[in-house]
Amino acid sequence: MTRSPLEETVLAEIRPTQAERDHVCGIAQKLLAAIAASGKAQGMVVGSIARHTWVRGDRDLDVFMLFDPGLSREALESEGLGLARKIAGTFADSFHEKYAEHPYISARIDDVDVDIVPCYAVESAAHIQSAVDRTPFHTRYITEKINGLIDDVLLLKRFTKSGGIYGSDQMTEGFSGYLCELLILHYGGFIPLLTSASEWKPQTLIDLENHTAKEFPEPLVMIDPVDPNRNVAAAVSLDRMVAFVELARGYLEEPSKHFFSLPDQHTITREGLASLIADRGTTLYAITFPTPPYIEEVIVPQLKRSVIAIAEHLERNGFVVHHTHYMMQPERCIFLLELLVADLPKIRTHVGPPVWNRVNAEKFREKHIVSSLPGPYIRNGHYEMEVFREYTNARALLSSEGLLQVSLGKHVRQSLTQGWIVDEGPYCWHEEFAPFIAAFFRRGSPLIRVRRKILDL
Ligand code: CTP
Ligand code: MG
Repeated sequence: MTRSPLEETVLAEIRPTQAERDHVCGIAQKLLAAIAASGKAQGMVVGSIARHTWVRGDRDLDVFMLFDPGLSREALESEGLGLARKIAGTFADSFHEKYAEHPYISARIDDVDVDIVPCYAVESAAHIQSAVDRTPFHTRYITEKINGLIDDVLLLKRFTKSGGIYGSDQMTEGFSGYLCELLILHYGGFIPLLTSASEWKPQTLIDLENHTAKEFPEPLVMIDPVDPNRNVAAAVSLDRMVAFVELARGYLEEPSKHFFSLPDQHTITREGLASLIADRGTTLYAITFPTPPYIEEVIVPQLKRSVIAIAEHLERNGFVVHHTHYMMQPERCIFLLELLVADLPKIRTHVGPPVWNRVNAEKFREKHIVSSLPGPYIRNGHYEMEVFREYTNARALLSSEGLLQVSLGKHVRQSLTQGWIVDEGPYCWHEEFAPFIAAFFRRGSPLIRVRRKILDL
């Protein structure tokens, strides 16, 4: 298929150079030789480097060490990590241990980020003992079939990255590299994929090997060709899925280099934030607390649930929440909440039982027989009365111990138990969160951002 001059120009910028290929492959060869020399495991390069589907400059090298599946889990962790440390120590200036489903070593060799991951050499993906055991099968599958479509994968990776939807991490909830490769394989190229995706609806199912083994609840389902029980697109949220649909339509209607340019980084100053809030007339609160000592994949879903629970707590107490978001940084996490109504009168309505429910109605009436406020009176068949509200100000609610009663995640609650800080208005500004705060007030769909660049608005 002929490619447009625009796509050719983009490809010329994102295809790895020969020098980069040689450099990365050279490091990979050294590591593979060292693993082979150990006699303990078989080395294998996986991920986008193995498949030649990495975008220039995005060089993270994934090297797996395949161990005998007869080894116990503990032995794999100790022997595997031991060997990974030894190899990293030989070639890297610095390295540290990381933890996904099981531990691995992350090292920096020259200017390449290298992950050295122990796994089991299982005979088929149906026999995996840990999630990483699947990865070598992905690599074999893609390497065998991707010939002739590598440029299409590169375009798609850049297209999704530009739209802010590349990555299956909890913060992005978007498209992983492997998903991009499978989409290109299934549709036979970048443009055919965009053409089909323009018509995607939630509950789209793609099953390259026609072997799906169960129903999946996620909006986009890509059955893993090497494992019928796994949805490769499980991380893709509904909003990220339709953002891709929107971008696909936009590109087909009017292609532009802006669909491939990396998103602009915006930030905001404290003064900028102050005048923004003044213009909007809303009330902004920030809750900050120390980041729990766990990985992003564990903490971010808890932040997401917590901020929803806090917003519901505010709404239950009569405040009006407009927009909320959360962010994790190495030292601290933040919940940002913008309220339309943050101050309330002293009184509120308290609804009691229906009067025909004799026992409860009598209890209610007698309990509230002494009251300085109107009621109990009858409305819609119920007893009702006015009471003084617990919080007349949202800040007081957010600062009170009651916050710990809402459904926060386990580690977030543990951290909040040590204390948290509530800031208001311009004081919500913190240097480490400045780009996040800027983005909070610059909401726009990916296509809106591209269209504004095209129109130079
Ligand atoms: N992997 C996976 N599911 C994920 C993340 C990773 O199955 N959510 C597996 C895939 O086989 C993937 C490999 O782990 O190819 C390496 O992951 P990663 O480096 O994140 O992705 P790449 O495919 O290498 O893409 P990139 O170009 O972004 O590095
Ligand atoms: Mg990779």
